[in-house]
Amino acid sequence: PGEKPLAGRHVVVTSGPTHEPIDPVRYIGNRSSGKQGHAIAAAAAAAGADVTLVSGPVALADPPGVTTVHVETAAQMAAAVEAALPADIFIATAAVADWRVEAAAPQKIKKSAVLPHFALAENPDILAAVAQRRSGRPRLVVGFAAETESILAHARDKLARKQCDIIVANDVGGAEGAMGKDENQITLITPSGAETWPKMRKEDVAAKLVRHLAQLLRERLDA
Ligand code: C5P
Repeated sequence: PGEKPLAGRHVVVTSGPTHEPIDPVRYIGNRSSGKQGHAIAAAAAAAGADVTLVSGPVALADPPGVTTVHVETAAQMAAAVEAALPADIFIATAAVADWRVEAAAPQKIKKSAVLPHFALAENPDILAAVAQRRSGRPRLVVGFAAETESILAHARDKLARKQCDIIVANDVGGAEGAMGKDENQITLITPSGAETWPKMRKEDVAAKLVRHLAQLLRERLDA
């Protein structure tokens, strides 16, 4: 404990968006800078953990002292997470695209008078799959809820539906939203309650979250 409360622990973090190809040059993707996820991976490493960061396409450098696996699509992210397990803590920060184009075109689609139509398929829910594992479930499974309205209600619903231990809810709507910014204002939601933190830098959110998770993990292991 003390300075390195996660020494000897394996932490897996997803970060950034996923890109789902439409053709070789176009994709469907979510907005996500990866700043919060990368900051969490760095904070977990600073707390002594062995960290695997599974990152979608971002403009950020790999955090030092972290094993970073680069992926493009949700399917690749799911496979990389699966390969990285077992872990003590799983933190799903990534903004995974909900849908992929069922059959991406092998060549660039040419513009023509006829508009293209794409059949979509649902992507795997990586967080739910990890949280609902029957064996080898990480002790702590943490999800994020980026919402633009009814944030707490949606976050509570997500906690129950996905069966994770904690949902970190943040408001991404409007001019005050966290998207791409350096600061974030979050509410931690657990089955027993909610805790709102003041707005702070994403690095500070990461450090505070990691301290909180280390404490919670210790309590669970002692229980
Ligand atoms: O359902 P929704 O996308 O709002 O849930 C957000 C949370 O679920 C985030 O933690 C995100 O990383 C995770 N997620 C995931 N795989 C998906 C969709 C979301 O891991 N396909």
